[in-house]
Amino acid sequence: QITLNYPGGELDLGVTRATEGGSGVSVASLLSTTGYVTLDPGFTNTASCTSAITYIDGDQGILRYRGYPIAELAGKSSFIEVSYLLIYGELPTPSQLEDFTHRIQRHTLLHEDFKRFFDGFPRDAHPMPVLSAAVSALGTFYPDSTSIRDHEQIELATVRLLAKLPTIAAYAYKKSVGQPFLYPDNSLDLVENFLRMTFGFPAEPYDVDPVLAKALDLLFILHADHEQNCSTSTVRLVGSGQANLFASVSAGIHALSGPLHGGANSAVLEMLEEIQRSPDGPDTFMNKVKNKEGGVRLMGFGHRVYKNYDPRAAIIKKTADDILRGLGVNDPLLEIALRLEEIALNDDYFIERKLYPNVDFYTGLIYKAMGFPTKMFTVLFALGRLPGWIAQWREMMEDKQTKIGRPRQIYIGATERPYLG
Ligand code: MLT
Repeated sequence: QITLNYPGGELDLGVTRATEGGSGVSVASLLSTTGYVTLDPGFTNTASCTSAITYIDGDQGILRYRGYPIAELAGKSSFIEVSYLLIYGELPTPSQLEDFTHRIQRHTLLHEDFKRFFDGFPRDAHPMPVLSAAVSALGTFYPDSTSIRDHEQIELATVRLLAKLPTIAAYAYKKSVGQPFLYPDNSLDLVENFLRMTFGFPAEPYDVDPVLAKALDLLFILHADHEQNCSTSTVRLVGSGQANLFASVSAGIHALSGPLHGGANSAVLEMLEEIQRSPDGPDTFMNKVKNKEGGVRLMGFGHRVYKNYDPRAAIIKKTADDILRGLGVNDPLLEIALRLEEIALNDDYFIERKLYPNVDFYTGLIYKAMGFPTKMFTVLFALGRLPGWIAQWREMMEDKQTKIGRPRQIYIGATERPYLG
């Protein structure tokens, strides 16, 4: 019988079984094989934390921000309201919203010197590392708001980041396509402004398409937080060393850039295009997935947490349909996507493995219909996730119990070895 003692109490790990060779199973190997290492409050802030921001129920698929159902927020609130909710814990009153919006509008401009920062990158630089580098560099332009002790300065860093990230993202895009930058137009809201700075041209009128702006606002809401995912836990880990908000969010953007995290939506699009090019079609593709043939990989299905249909995916699926129709886009890739989903939802192989469409499955199709190139997809994810990162960083900093992150390891290397010179 093994009992693990830790500061919070005792954990009964059950009876160990003797191995074939007669020796007992080590606690370390038992912990690692049973997964108990994740229940590790004795090592606070290593792989675990408490949080009051986003609730996910793995079985029921309920997802709430600060207690409010995400589906209702997506239908009734704007991205800026949801950002306020995540960061401050409550939906803003009309005057709080007006003040918050006004404060953000005052900070959308980038310092003129900052524009030259973009010149240092190659012409075809991917906008995601440019975004991350620029957020890190913000700390050098605004050293006053890098303080992690001064509440006023944290407020300022929060607002600066929310205001400037869309400008930086639009400039990273303009740079990558060799087009001139546009100054922000603060008569527009955050999402409209971003669309204009991305797709507009200086001295030319740009009418923001309300269908586009509404859909992007909704997508940002759905991506705004997702508790301790790879990028968010990176933001918390970096911040736990008391790195400032710019540095921590910059690290989070890097974490998001990987194909298994923020890059998954572009991988879905590539998979759909591949199916479209192939003579086989979706049914044969799914058979190959089942039979593990030809190295095919099913992207955009399944999730580490959900054991059911990702609630965000249900909303995004409907949006994909509406926006493609609203924009008059007839994308045959949507037909392929719908067929893949239909097969997965009716086939025991996929049902048993809980392979339901996740948030990434339809987003790439929507971004494409909006006119974004694939390399902007992760950037769009970062724009949506920003308020979640800020909220998580602030929550951690406000918690007096927070210790510097120190991930655990189970040593598996050589024991003692004689040094023979
Ligand atoms: C996310 O939204 O961050 C993704 O679903 C990944 C995750 O939660 O692990």
